[in-house]
Amino acid sequence: MDSLPSKDVLENENNFCDDYEIYFLEFIKELEATKEADIKKLINTLSEKIASEVNLSDFKPSGNENYSRNYLGKHHLGWELLVMCWSKGQVTPIHGHPHICSYNFTQGEFHLEIFELDDNSEPVLKDSLEISEKTIFTDIGLKDTFANHIHRIECRSEIGYSIHVYSDDAQKGTKF
Ligand SMILES: [Fe+2]
Repeated sequence: MDSLPSKDVLENENNFCDDYEIYFLEFIKELEATKEADIKKLINTLSEKIASEVNLSDFKPSGNENYSRNYLGKHHLGWELLVMCWSKGQVTPIHGHPHICSYNFTQGEFHLEIFELDDNSEPVLKDSLEISEKTIFTDIGLKDTFANHIHRIECRSEIGYSIHVYSDDAQKGTKF
């Protein structure tokens, strides 16, 4: 199994929680033996395990216009596990994702818009959802693009939390 990058690297990027590293390492190990058809289930199991065990109040809002990104695990081949902490009114740009992405709204209220690209590669709104209870979305898209599962998320409660699993660095996601 490939090793994680050094803890120093992770700490320089953001918070790193040793307590949950074991779940992420188990997940990475299980991925190797999992057929693509079963990957969603494996990701959802990891996300739900983190949701049930993590103490969300350990993660604080950023205090600026951006939600806080808190790494629980990051593998040098790309996979990453994060907890995001949101404040009311914080909103993402319209953006895409790597091959596989999963996000689990675990607390708070969110407005979620999902887009598809038209023939001119412009995002067109396809769905608009109000999230007020625990909801998980897991999507397997195309490899070698960061324009999968295009969405925009806005937090509508005073505070909100979501747990994310990505097959690659989500910050490389295409912005529109
Ligand atoms: Fe996203």
